[in-house]
Amino acid sequence: EQRIALLPAAGSGSRMASAIPKQYLPLAGQPVLRHTVQAFMIHPAIDRIVVVISPEDEWFDEYDWQFAQSKLTVLRCGGASRAESVRNGLQAIAPVMADSSWVLVHDAARPCLAQADLSRLLQTLADDPVGGILAVPVADTLKRAGEGQQVVETVPRDGMWQAQTPQMFRHGVLSKALSGELDAGVTDEASAIERLGYAPRLVAGSARNLKITFPADLALAEWIIAHPA
Ligand code: CTP
Ligand code: MG
Repeated sequence: EQRIALLPAAGSGSRMASAIPKQYLPLAGQPVLRHTVQAFMIHPAIDRIVVVISPEDEWFDEYDWQFAQSKLTVLRCGGASRAESVRNGLQAIAPVMADSSWVLVHDAARPCLAQADLSRLLQTLADDPVGGILAVPVADTLKRAGEGQQVVETVPRDGMWQAQTPQMFRHGVLSKALSGELDAGVTDEASAIERLGYAPRLVAGSARNLKITFPADLALAEWIIAHPA
């Protein structure tokens, strides 16, 4: 089976509030996106890496992607939301994908993905008919807020997991899941798959696989890269 990494990288990084989109900010001397691409480049089980950037992207071409040439495809078909960017990328690769091929959707903004976590995801799901995601058990106590931003209840955190990426699904199932209306409830691929009635599997990942969202996350990513597990 083919295994394709699909990297949505068409966001503007509004919460990061930096001059350039966060996927291009320097991290340990290289743009964030290069680290993310590298994780899939060096993994022998990944056949191709498809990066989805914005049609208005002015940064991608500023960097040298030679190191990834044997696997990398860049598509300028990013959409208004992450889900749209993923759907557009999926549609573009559909002609060369069998329904049973794997698509691993991974945030460009998660540059610290460890090879061991990627391997565990691939191995755990290898025979699964649908797929699943990397996730970590929730560490904090959870509160549900009411109208006045007061606690309505404490939500038991047993059995609660925080979704990460990669989110790995069979191409046929994922295309179907993302073919309908993409409302705000579709915050990740798994939620779209769940709407079809499937139960994606949770594969234990690591807190090191953080998403860079706010400036402090970039500092933490620097530390993680400087201190390999
Ligand atoms: N993404 C995308 N297309 C969009 C929005 C997001 O491809 N229209 C990508 C981002 O580039 C990122 C990933 O989806 O790699 C996760 O999204 P997020 O962390 O929310 O990034 P941004 O949307 O760029 O940031 P923000 O929400 O703070 O604006
Ligand atoms: Mg966003």
